[in-house]
Amino acid sequence: MAAPWRAAWAAVMVMAAAAAASAKECTNIPTQLSSHTVRARLQAFPGAEEWRLRELFHDHLNPTDEAAWMDLMPPPRGGLRAAAGGHDHEEFDWAVLYRSLKGQLPGGGGGASPASAAAAGPFLEEVSLHDVRLDPDGDAAYGRAQRTNLEYLLLLDPDRLVWSFRTQAGLPAPGEPYGGWEGPDVELRGHFVGHYLSAAAKMWASTGNATLAGRMSAVVGALRECQRAAGTGYLSAFPAEFFDRFEAVRPVWAPYYTVHKIMQGLLDQHVVAGDGRALGMVAAMADYFAGRVRNVIRRYSVERHWASLNEETGGMNDVLYQLYTITVRSAFFSFLLESLHQRFRSTF
Ligand SMILES: *[C@@H]1O[C@H](CO)[C@@H](O)[C@H](O)[C@H]1NC(C)=O
Repeated sequence: MAAPWRAAWAAVMVMAAAAAASAKECTNIPTQLSSHTVRARLQAFPGAEEWRLRELFHDHLNPTDEAAWMDLMPPPRGGLRAAAGGHDHEEFDWAVLYRSLKGQLPGGGGGASPASAAAAGPFLEEVSLHDVRLDPDGDAAYGRAQRTNLEYLLLLDPDRLVWSFRTQAGLPAPGEPYGGWEGPDVELRGHFVGHYLSAAAKMWASTGNATLAGRMSAVVGALRECQRAAGTGYLSAFPAEFFDRFEAVRPVWAPYYTVHKIMQGLLDQHVVAGDGRALGMVAAMADYFAGRVRNVIRRYSVERHWASLNEETGGMNDVLYQLYTITVRSAFFSFLLESLHQRFRSTF
């Protein structure tokens, strides 16, 4: 049963590679302009407004460019359908492939009988981070690398991490801010803190280190105070005015890119680290941004919303779909999903 699957998988990879090679210009193809830092510098130049509009409306794909989307990722054809047991799963072929690899298709896929599929067991199985331990003093490099990462995370100071969030929220901010992308004048500030929350949640799950648990809990607690002080659900290390600029298609670095990191970090704190406060925080953020999207569409048009998303789509979609599967929230929230989803529908 495994051999035909490997062949089908190899065929898919070849098709995907061929499609990528012939695809139009797209942000997924790394160029110098893929760098957020290079783009932010370019946007600061005189004439940047024109450059940005050209980039948004000309070079990038837009929602009417369906053919380009289909070129990027052609739906797998006959081979997969046959491999999925001859059922007509065309619409969901990618999901069918994934579930079959995991042995979760009814009947086991590949025409095998349910009994023999069960005997063979699933091809892939997910294991919780909580159930795997690496030896930090062993011979394998992985355990030592993990300890290096843990020690790095422990070097980071909660007060310094949340400095710009507190300042933004009008709260006292002891300590000093970090530099780099977290610098108090940098438009991406807060981004690294989101990554920290994700990394710390996964590191804690992988090691059970109680010192790290205390640190990350302090960061979540401080962010919660900042969100409460704002009173709208907004939670960021920079002012909401950045989103006004984003919606007006005026130069700003990458506010949704940054907010996505914070939302994902909080969601990881909920899902991976079991922090009971984090889910409500990320849901409040989702509601706040749903409100913003609704206003953009009302004030301008859905096309304006799509145009602004040309800059920063993927991460927000991903975290919102995850959040939706956990919370299955209100119509308000599904409105945001719908408006984001439109743009990707043709891909699937
Ligand atoms: C957490 O990890 C660090 C670095 O390995 C270690 O020094 C510390 O004792 C650990 N904390 C706890 C509570 O185990």
